[in-house]
Amino acid sequence: MPERRRILVTNALPYANGPIHLGHMVEAVQTDIWCRLQRMRGRECYNVCAEDAHGTPIMLRAEREGITPEELIGRLAEEHLEDYRAFSIHFDDYYTTHSPENRKLVEEIYGRLRDRGSIDRRTVRQFYDPERGMFLPDRFIKGTCPRCGAKDQNGDSCDECGSTYAPADLIDPRSIVTGALPVEKESEHLFLRLSDYEDLLEDWVGDGRLQSEVVNKLREWFDDGLRDWDISRDAPYFGFEIPDAPNKYFYVWVDAPIGYMAAFRRFCDQNGVEFGDFWGPDSDAELYHFIGKDILYFHCLFWPAMLHGGGYRTPSSVFVHGFLTVDGAKMSKSRGTFVMARTYLDHLDPEAFRYYIAAKLSNGLADIDLNLEDFVLRVNSDLVGKVVNIASRCAGFLHRQFDGRLAAALDAPELAAAAAAEAEEIAELYEGRDYNRALRRVIALADRANRYIDERRPWEAARDPERAAEVQAVCTTGLELFRQLVVFLKPVVPAIAGRAESFLRTGPLVWEDVHTPLLDREIGPFEPLLTRVRREQVAAMIAASGEDGTG
Ligand code: 2FM
Ligand code: ZN
Repeated sequence: MPERRRILVTNALPYANGPIHLGHMVEAVQTDIWCRLQRMRGRECYNVCAEDAHGTPIMLRAEREGITPEELIGRLAEEHLEDYRAFSIHFDDYYTTHSPENRKLVEEIYGRLRDRGSIDRRTVRQFYDPERGMFLPDRFIKGTCPRCGAKDQNGDSCDECGSTYAPADLIDPRSIVTGALPVEKESEHLFLRLSDYEDLLEDWVGDGRLQSEVVNKLREWFDDGLRDWDISRDAPYFGFEIPDAPNKYFYVWVDAPIGYMAAFRRFCDQNGVEFGDFWGPDSDAELYHFIGKDILYFHCLFWPAMLHGGGYRTPSSVFVHGFLTVDGAKMSKSRGTFVMARTYLDHLDPEAFRYYIAAKLSNGLADIDLNLEDFVLRVNSDLVGKVVNIASRCAGFLHRQFDGRLAAALDAPELAAAAAAEAEEIAELYEGRDYNRALRRVIALADRANRYIDERRPWEAARDPERAAEVQAVCTTGLELFRQLVVFLKPVVPAIAGRAESFLRTGPLVWEDVHTPLLDREIGPFEPLLTRVRREQVAAMIAASGEDGTG
């Protein structure tokens, strides 16, 4: 019997103002593999996601397109979900942060923080676009670098010389919204007093739940002192208005993580699951957030503080990954390596991406490199050459000589037993997000299976009618070793696994199934499970990403 675990998992909510690219997809794949493994092992595991719908960029983009923000986020939600589905990312609910459920939770958590005395009000000076009548976030101001004189630099740092500064230091500053000269203006803002939660956060960070690299980063921030967090923005802003502060809105980063809860709230309401079992202060369910290292501060400091102050449980852990690089460099539009999910799908099989990324992922914060040459070689060599090949080698003999019927006993039961004996350790590697090591174990098993077939040479025995039983038993063994590989690989390549299940006529395979060989029954006709990746496909994808302007 599987131990009883109830698990809720999230990945970072994509902003509703741009397409999903391969960087997003790395995280979605990492999360999806983990959840599939849990479900295959009988755990109750949910993965919810949503559009991160609020904020200034979304408001301005909708304006530029002449549509409402609601229309914009609705359209992008559809596109995003389509991309996720195409990569076999399974979400139990996919919602939006612009929802009544989210507004209710945000108001409730804010109200509790305020009632505990954790919200301060202070006047701040900020740049303001007098033409548009709006305050400007730093990155909405551009100008000439005060250090090196490079034109058209961001409000906070120079891309040319790398220096950082305040927007007020820029020479010739301009609002990128209207081109107007920004003026400084005062406004009252609301702040969450993070230092109220210092003890809680020290305990939460220090008790071994986080990756050591994450803890080190957080320690630096503790040492610098926890600063209050500005949680309000002035109108005009697309978001939720703050109940007791008219014309002020919650900063998008307040309602974004609460959007995890709101998506799950809707899921619970529609599926009869008890929300409080997962989010209540005494919950014994597990809660994990998969995120990139750029949004650590939000998830490991603000978020646990908000949850605790708001009367909810804190996350069991936050799983942090590095950035996707392509051929060793940051993704770049001009080099064609800033690849949108859609562009990838136009040229290549999503299962190949899932496999390659899994083969590169560890549980650390190191960047994950998509090396295009290695991608082609690795997918072809491992998946096509080693895994799929076993099935195609064995199925032919069974169909030609035995009407597709498997033998009643294995020729080498010790091999199947040895593979089954690794199931627990392979599962543990997945559980610990050491996917690269899990897959090395699986491919080593594939190598062993191929060696077995090479040694037993069924193609020779097939020429001798007296050795028919041997051919059947050897090919049955080969297919059994293949079936075990399918179980082990199913979290990573669920679509290939699905085709294998229908070819083997097994129904949906679960982790336990590695222990029960498939014997004495008919299999279906062999169908191609995956075709080789060709270099030209990759080249075409890069060319398309370079030229279409969006890629
Ligand atoms: O960094 C981002 O892309 C954000 N949209 C992630 C939000 S995660 C969560 F807090 F909602
Ligand atoms: Zn400069």
